[in-house]
Amino acid sequence: MSLALNNIGHLVTNDPSIGNGPLGIINNAGLVADDEGKIIWCGPQDQIDQYTEAQPIDCYGCAIIPGFVDSHTHIVFAGDRATEFEARMEGIPYEAGGIQSTMMATRAASDELLSLNAQHLAYEALCSGTTTLEVKSGYGLSVRDEERSMRVARSITSETTFLGAHLCPTDVKQDDYVDLVVGEMLTACLPYAKWIDVFCDRGAFSAEQSREILNAGAKAGLGTRIHASQLGPSGAIKMGVELGVASCDHCTHITDLDIEALASASDTTVATLLPAAELCTRGPFPDGRHMIEQGVTVALATDCNPGSSYTTSMPFVMSLGVILMGMTPDQALWSSTQGGAQALRRTDVGNLCAGSRADLVVLDAPSHIHLAYRPGVNQTRAVVRGGKCVVGAL
Ligand code: NIG
Ligand code: FE
Repeated sequence: MSLALNNIGHLVTNDPSIGNGPLGIINNAGLVADDEGKIIWCGPQDQIDQYTEAQPIDCYGCAIIPGFVDSHTHIVFAGDRATEFEARMEGIPYEAGGIQSTMMATRAASDELLSLNAQHLAYEALCSGTTTLEVKSGYGLSVRDEERSMRVARSITSETTFLGAHLCPTDVKQDDYVDLVVGEMLTACLPYAKWIDVFCDRGAFSAEQSREILNAGAKAGLGTRIHASQLGPSGAIKMGVELGVASCDHCTHITDLDIEALASASDTTVATLLPAAELCTRGPFPDGRHMIEQGVTVALATDCNPGSSYTTSMPFVMSLGVILMGMTPDQALWSSTQGGAQALRRTDVGNLCAGSRADLVVLDAPSHIHLAYRPGVNQTRAVVRGGKCVVGAL
């Protein structure tokens, strides 16, 4: 079944060649997709008859944006860390070590429970408009448990990331663990992985270890990404740029030199900002607007995980980007869609250009500005993925 929509009051295409401004906005627009779920045409609604024989669906003047691309999540886990969150809100600082308690709950969970938990979170994300989702392993931390985490991730998305190097379990020596990650664990996880990631930070892995792990993943054919400078300033961002990773994520404690390095590599390496992690760990917010003005390509993502950021909502993350990271609503929308796609090196999602996937969100709002303007309010009327309405109704 093909899809034809008209009377779209405000259509964000992310294609400046077909609409106004950097977001390529078309007012009073139409959109047509083919029966394979690919966009054939977007443009002024009075031209729609040239592109479809079907009776178009009336959108009654509401706004449509590309589906969100959440390029950083850790949704394969069991248990929760509400008690740790409560203690943090009373003043205990966030540390990488909390990962260990989720590791224990994850190891104790059945395959079925792990899978159900991840599916539930992926569905929650879809309901708020996320049509492309990256999912990492990283709470198994043994060959068996990383492999089954990756299997669960792969059952949910093609954007799967092996994060065996999330933390070294306390009963294993750090050097032995790195050997395991680049050896047996990588081999076991490889069939399910597209990416490899490493948590390069205080209390996790050193720059030297991270380099070894990313190089091993790249040699095995995986794309690379890095958790960099979340807990303190480090050389991780510069190293990520040097290694040509697709994305340096967090960048909480980014320096001017890091910004220069990222700006010089803006076609290759994206800076993925995770403002919900800053919010929930009471960390400092990096200045997203300044980074963009300096030429850095910025993505926004949820970082959904039970420790530092237990949210699946990209609209909420967008509003944090605007209100607490200095970004304009246009910048935050771009970073949550096209920026995320670039962080995953995808061109077929994150925009509504002809040839891209018909992944879109119909908003109960007149424009994308309302997403930041009304923080925490559900304004999703419908979600379309691959040309089919999967949430709500058109
Ligand atoms: O991205 N930084 C490392 N990993 C997660 C948090 C993991 C946890 O606390 O469980 C993050 O914030
Ligand atoms: Fe993360």
